[in-house]
Amino acid sequence: MRPTALAWRSLVITARVAIGVAQAFAGAAIVALRRGRPAAKRHLARRATGTVMRLGPTFVKAGQILGTRRDVLPPLLCDELSALRDDVAALGPARSRAALAAVYGPDVDAVFAEVDYTAVAGGSVACIYRATLHDGADVAVKLQRPGIRPLMAADLALIRRGAAMVARLPAFRGVPVRELVDNLCDAVIGQLDFAREAASLERMRANLTVLSRVRVPRVRFDASRPECIVMEFVPDLDIHTSDRCTLVARRSFAKSTLDVMYQMLFIDGFVHCDMHPGNLYFLVTGQTVVLDAGFSTQLTDKMRRLFADFFLNFAVGRGSRCAELVLESALGVRADGDPAAFRVDMAELVVRNHGLPAKDFSLMAFATEMFELQRRYGIAAAPELVFPLLALLVIEGTVRDLDPDVDFQEEGKPTLNRAVFGVGSTAS
Ligand SMILES: Nc1ncnc2c1ncn2[C@@H]1O[C@H](COP(=O)(O)OP(=O)(O)O)[C@@H](O)[C@H]1O
Ligand SMILES: [Mg+2]
Repeated sequence: MRPTALAWRSLVITARVAIGVAQAFAGAAIVALRRGRPAAKRHLARRATGTVMRLGPTFVKAGQILGTRRDVLPPLLCDELSALRDDVAALGPARSRAALAAVYGPDVDAVFAEVDYTAVAGGSVACIYRATLHDGADVAVKLQRPGIRPLMAADLALIRRGAAMVARLPAFRGVPVRELVDNLCDAVIGQLDFAREAASLERMRANLTVLSRVRVPRVRFDASRPECIVMEFVPDLDIHTSDRCTLVARRSFAKSTLDVMYQMLFIDGFVHCDMHPGNLYFLVTGQTVVLDAGFSTQLTDKMRRLFADFFLNFAVGRGSRCAELVLESALGVRADGDPAAFRVDMAELVVRNHGLPAKDFSLMAFATEMFELQRRYGIAAAPELVFPLLALLVIEGTVRDLDPDVDFQEEGKPTLNRAVFGVGSTAS
């Protein structure tokens, strides 16, 4: 980006943030007087999210990623941030044709026999098209938006600069702002690494072939490029399919979704962290489709076992063992932390939740309380133990909508037994 363009962008962002902050606080003050503090906090969180959305794709992605960090941020803010959706129109056919030509150059006709330039779907980073290859394969083409990389790079440079200033404020002394922001920026720019995304998708497909009713599109590496993923097209994707299915079919979708999650968490250790509706579909044929491995993580073998062990002990209500496992895996304990008190309260939390009937057990409520205990007693949880839990939280709502009686703990047992003891049959 040219220096003048960069200066202009930084001006626009500063102005939007300043206006957003001023409006949010003024509004919150009024709401606080009329409806009390909790309503005012909600108002602030909502306004903050609105501002983020107006700042464009880099900030939307950063907000979405931050919104998953329920271990760090207040639940209220996470609820708002995780509802952030890309609100950008797909490219029109003429610009799409130019964008594909820019990526493939003279190869475009050699690779594609036919391309429908009306996008099937569009997000802030890419648009998706349907095309045919010369061997007759029906493919989905996930093409990065032109100009997205320089825009994101410029925005992230501004975010870094802003964070460096904020880090100097007395209120942030001792908070590792730089590390947090560096991690966030890496995660955001990582969304543009399509070579890695394609490799992750393929790896996930290979891992999940053991689940016969689960489908992950096969990547066509021969036709893909660093800015474009070409993969098998999955027809009839519709987020409302399950609404029209029988209860039996819905239960089976819920089970498949959990099977996918447990297979990734407990057996493979390679986890899709973003299986929200839009990345997870159900077909009338009974298949469950998993897409978009852009946000996935590899657990170390130690952590995978630890997580499986945690879940298994949770499922039988062994609270003190669960508390012990969290402490074992923790990155550290704050100087004024209190691991002994954590042990007592954490064990109580597990026992209390284990006793609940399946329909009353909420993973979200459990995790929120656990993160709260960690904060209170100064236990810094290892990200590897947090990410799997966060991945589970993303699917909880979907699974419960499909099957209100679902028992998360019971469903996990066969996969857990295979993971921990190497016994039991392969789930379907
Ligand atoms: N292989 C595919 N076959 C058919 N439609 C697809 C395929 N991949 C993606 N799509 C459609 O495009 C949408 C966005 O794709 P996704 O990979 O999730 O992109 P993003 O990274 O923008 O979220 C999906 O929700 C789906 O509707
Ligand atoms: Mg997606």
